[in-house]
Amino acid sequence: MVTMSDADPSMKRLADYTPPAFLVDHINLRFQLRQGQTTVIARSRLRRNLDAGDARAPLVLDGQDMELASVALDGRSLATAEYRLESESLVIASVPNDFDLEVITQIRPEDNTRLEGLYVSNGMYCTQCEAEGFRRITYFPDRPDVMARYRVRIEADRANYPVLLSNGNPVEQGDLEEGRHYAVWEDPFPKPSYLFALVAGDLDCLRDAHTTPSGRIVDLRIYAESADLAKCRHAMDSLKHAMIWDEQRYGREYDLDIYMIVAVGHFNMGAMENKGLNLFNTKYVLADRDTATDRDFRGVEGVIAHEYFHNWTGNRITCRDWFQLSLKEGLTVFRDQEFSADQGSRGVQRIDDVNVLRGHQFPEDAGPMAHPVRPDGYMEINNFYTVTIYNKGAEVVRMQRLLLGDQGFRKATDLYFERYDGQAVTTDDFVACMEDASGRNLGQFRRWYSQAGTPVVRAESGRDERGGYVLTLSQRCPPTPGQDHKQPFHIPVAVGWVGPDGADVSLDAGGATTCVLELTEAVQTFRFPNIPDGSLPSLLRGFSAPVKMEYAYRDADLAFLMAHDSDDFNRWEAGQKLATQVILGMVEQRARGTDMEVPERYLDAFGAALADRETDPELLGAVLTLPGIAQLGEAMETIDIDGLCTARETLRRRIHERHGEVLSDRYRDLEDGGPFRMDGEAVARRALRNTCLAYLTAGRDAAGLALLLDQYHRAGNMTARLAALALLAEREEEQAEEVLRDFQEAWKHDALVMDKWFSLQATADRPDALARVRTLMRHPDFILINPNRVRALIGAFAAGNLRHFHAADGSGYRFLADRILELDPLNPQVAARMASPFTRWRRYDAARRAGMKTQLERLRDRGDALSGDVAELVLKSLAE
Ligand code: TRP
Ligand code: ZN
Repeated sequence: MVTMSDADPSMKRLADYTPPAFLVDHINLRFQLRQGQTTVIARSRLRRNLDAGDARAPLVLDGQDMELASVALDGRSLATAEYRLESESLVIASVPNDFDLEVITQIRPEDNTRLEGLYVSNGMYCTQCEAEGFRRITYFPDRPDVMARYRVRIEADRANYPVLLSNGNPVEQGDLEEGRHYAVWEDPFPKPSYLFALVAGDLDCLRDAHTTPSGRIVDLRIYAESADLAKCRHAMDSLKHAMIWDEQRYGREYDLDIYMIVAVGHFNMGAMENKGLNLFNTKYVLADRDTATDRDFRGVEGVIAHEYFHNWTGNRITCRDWFQLSLKEGLTVFRDQEFSADQGSRGVQRIDDVNVLRGHQFPEDAGPMAHPVRPDGYMEINNFYTVTIYNKGAEVVRMQRLLLGDQGFRKATDLYFERYDGQAVTTDDFVACMEDASGRNLGQFRRWYSQAGTPVVRAESGRDERGGYVLTLSQRCPPTPGQDHKQPFHIPVAVGWVGPDGADVSLDAGGATTCVLELTEAVQTFRFPNIPDGSLPSLLRGFSAPVKMEYAYRDADLAFLMAHDSDDFNRWEAGQKLATQVILGMVEQRARGTDMEVPERYLDAFGAALADRETDPELLGAVLTLPGIAQLGEAMETIDIDGLCTARETLRRRIHERHGEVLSDRYRDLEDGGPFRMDGEAVARRALRNTCLAYLTAGRDAAGLALLLDQYHRAGNMTARLAALALLAEREEEQAEEVLRDFQEAWKHDALVMDKWFSLQATADRPDALARVRTLMRHPDFILINPNRVRALIGAFAAGNLRHFHAADGSGYRFLADRILELDPLNPQVAARMASPFTRWRRYDAARRAGMKTQLERLRDRGDALSGDVAELVLKSLAE
């Protein structure tokens, strides 16, 4: 049984880091891909790392689930007595300081359902090596600070696998006997093993080219099944935009003559930045107007950019060890967020990003899996590809940019690229560049990397004895596992004031209206000379730090800010705060058994926003959208899930009753007239129109049904069609069933569209929700070995249908635990992700706590039959 004491050998600790005992300068890999058995011949040049000390240390290579065929040292085959084969390593006790090593292993990619290492997806061989998949291909020091140059030869049947790809440049290809052929690839850049990739399959490719500022012509290729090629155009355009953006914003250009992307149907995550050969979940490559929503298009653009940006932030400069994961992920998410903000609406992008943070990262930071951006320890690294590492990590980089200013930050990233190119480094090294380039001391700021938890900042305003305006900020941070007491954080708080006339107050002679306060103490007071009476503070503009901001706004203040704040983010934020206060008030009334009342003031504020014809319709759509259940739950001591769902629905119906006519007018005005357009304005109109549609049908009446059917049948794109279908899936009328069948019939050959079909039924709020999910599990197209399908049905139900997942009888919990137990032996990485709703069990009422705890204990009692991935979540969740 896995336990969790400090001495636990399954726990890896940052404090235990030691440099590698051996380095690999070069590796020559030869893959013989054959049905039923693949042989891997690995020839490496190794060298003892004398800086690391021990001149007699044995050679220890990582390896899992392979058959070792032979080992040879400097050309001499080793007898079994000369090495020791353990379950996860190969140890050779005595080796010289420099030597050639040949390791031959045999693997079965066809049977690999974990989708780590070499596996087969829809008849195509492909790899996933991050974080520790390379050790399932050959025995190797599988850690990111061992960087080698790779030469790869792939041999396979020519008819079934005409395309053979690996990292770097193609150097040779030709025919072999028995209808086989080969290709040789060479990557001139030393890289860690997690960036290795190989693909062999029958693929078509979309080609384009990009010329870098220094004149390099880069051959761009997106590989997919030929039927999908027409859906790759948007991905290609996104790639070209990303390349130009990185050249202009960071002065970074691409460094090989070829850049390849391959779309893979079975993929554990979103995509992977392997050097010169990105592998992508099809979901983040394929998009066209009939099969993808506007949100999907943005997802493709963002992930394409993310993986491209990794070429500098991740590949050229990589992580010393996996505790430094945010070095590449936090920085690269920050870069892709900024890229996306530049492509569309900055305000809307910021709102989306903060919604992810509040809806997922804040809950993670408040639960048993809470960890710092640079964790101190982990059992299974796959579990640490988290919203904390990625999204909070991005916020920590964003704060450094704010503190340094745009120019200072650019100087600092230039220094970072210059100083560490070709190396494996730490988050501390990154911060040191920020300090050295700017002359600022970020000593206290580093606590953002080492302390977990979401700080709470409280603001109070008043007048001092001379009548000057005073803003007092205080901070605290709740305890997290292993960290009972926190030191104060260095928090940049962007503030401005909105005057009684609705205009921003000037803060200095230059007319600046926003300034950044640096909160470094537990309590700090800031004085401002020229704030007129009746002004309202606009706090944490642009969400300048990942904290919870408390200030005693009255409802009327929030309504005023919602109408007038010049900061797009805070305008939206005021509306969210107001809606949250209203909904939580209704939940309380319901719990007391009194009628839920919606304050007229809220309905008026909503109406004023709805009447606004000047604001970007997409931003307005966001302003008119109520906060989600997950975020609302965060604001409660004990989450009352039924109360929240009921109150939120009631509020939506009241808004419809009160503003039906205006909603209906706007809905009609926003109708797509002419041909389909993908530009920002068209996207914004579709978004706001769908927001109106949801309110117009909130009453679930006959008129609403007619509207949904009308939009569904007349839709000329997936954005409009899917919005209608998702709402139809909540209806019990037969016409709704018919449409669901119609959609299935039309799209049964398109896996990504079928994922949507599964998902919108899994999330539908209807009394028979779980029964329908069970029925869908028996659908011939439901398969556990496809992670997208698992996420679409099981993940969507557990994380997106909160009312029914948390059914009072515990049926949702039992269902999820059953599925985790089925999936765990096949794909532990995805099984562990499915388990994450259980980690929040302590936040609910006694009955639900007990229901989830029972299932966690049931999982725990499987003992060693459980994967380390799931065990880590279960044990941490149950720990006192
Ligand atoms: N490095 C990838 C990214 O964020 C993440 C990733 C892709 C990954 N596949 C994975 C992480 C498998 C762990 C396991 O771009
Ligand atoms: Zn990444």
